[in-house]
Amino acid sequence: MSASINKVSVIGAGTMGAGIAALCAAAGCQVVLLDMKSDIAAASIERLAGGKRPVITEDQAKLITAGSLSDDLNAISDSDWICEAVVEDLQIKRDLFANIETIRRDGSIVTTNTSGIPLKDIVADMPARLRQDIAVTHFFNPVHIMKLVELIPGADTDPQVTSRLADFLSGPLGKGVVYAKDTVNFIGNRIGCFWMLAGLSKAANADDTSMEAIDALMSKPVGLPPTGLYGLIDLIGLDVMDFVAKNLDKNLPANDVGRNYLALPATESEMLGNGQLGRKTGGGFYKLVKADDGSKSMEVYDLTDKHWRPMQNIELQAVHQDIKTLMFSDDAEGRFSWDLMSATLNYASELVPEISDDIVNVDRAMKWGFNWAMGPFELIDAIGAQAFSDKLKADGVAINGMLKVLLDNGHGSFYINDGKEFLTVDGHYEQVPA
Ligand code: NAI
Repeated sequence: MSASINKVSVIGAGTMGAGIAALCAAAGCQVVLLDMKSDIAAASIERLAGGKRPVITEDQAKLITAGSLSDDLNAISDSDWICEAVVEDLQIKRDLFANIETIRRDGSIVTTNTSGIPLKDIVADMPARLRQDIAVTHFFNPVHIMKLVELIPGADTDPQVTSRLADFLSGPLGKGVVYAKDTVNFIGNRIGCFWMLAGLSKAANADDTSMEAIDALMSKPVGLPPTGLYGLIDLIGLDVMDFVAKNLDKNLPANDVGRNYLALPATESEMLGNGQLGRKTGGGFYKLVKADDGSKSMEVYDLTDKHWRPMQNIELQAVHQDIKTLMFSDDAEGRFSWDLMSATLNYASELVPEISDDIVNVDRAMKWGFNWAMGPFELIDAIGAQAFSDKLKADGVAINGMLKVLLDNGHGSFYINDGKEFLTVDGHYEQVPA
């Protein structure tokens, strides 16, 4: 089996497929980009190399050949890597892989960019050759900017396939590879979507804390991006959140605590029904308003009174600006922050080794895919693992997962030696891999 990847086929020329094709062209690969009609793929290539902020140069764009699935599927026959990035629909993906399998050459690698469909469902009853040559490569949007790619082998994936992909993704494509397991939403979206869905639910039931205050707390003070909770969901769209929740409902384990947060709160459900989805519909929780004189201002949708009002600037008190004091602050701000962040961090602790063999891959997924300044385990260390566990116990929460491993072995933190060693699921420390 040849080790290098030089010829790539990307199927699906939408947001993700176009981004992956551009990344490969920028790395000097020959790329075939197919969609339902070749015009769709051609328009994507034009967009990549044109506009105000081109993603690739005109010369790099010449490395990408547009085609259609109906007329040009044979063009994938000599590809080293065939990456599927069509709509998130199990049957469409399965039909496509059945076709690909009849055309691709021996030794080629196949991947799906699915964000949440388990690989085992995609390859169920498929030929053994496909099952050994397929994996998930889950890129994050925008592909040329986000460092993370989650790499997920299936039960029958040949380890050589995984290692060839890891070499290519981290080498020529310059990505940060995180190894995940074939569980729903993998690592980043499993924890990130828990945080968002639990956040909406908990905020709906929180003491008097405004949307602006929640976003001010759920950003810099806890090392999360400036969009906070509502700002991030505006970016993603309430329709996508609803789609994610439905997929989680189908695939989460029966006893998973994430099941408590799958239903959107009443007001958010109304917004979804009314098409008030987020930035793509001109406003969701926030909207930018232009006055007649040309000036611009932000408004927020008041979830209690259900009307738009001017956004307020929030000045956080010093005690709320640092996660170490915020988590233990006995006021509305502290209680909400503890409620959401402790649930999320404890969830991450309970998910190892279910979703990842170790804490390092979890921390990297959240840093590289969600732009968290620290991963969940680094955050627990920053708060103080003992104090964090004591407060969870005082809340009546049973300590499981990696927190239990840490406490049972008498350790004080998940990382030691300036972050160079991490706590394994067996309770000892190992060198953090490069
Ligand atoms: P998109 O809607 O931008 O593009 C999907 C493309 O698939 C379109 O160009 C469409 O013409 C094509 N298509 C639709 N039906 C098809 C069919 N029957 N056969 C062949 N092509 C068909 O979607 P996007 O966002 O690029 O997503 C693609 C995949 O990547 C999905 O599985 C999605 O879950 C996943 N993903 C999306 C992310 C995002 O942020 N948009 C992030 C990570 C993964």
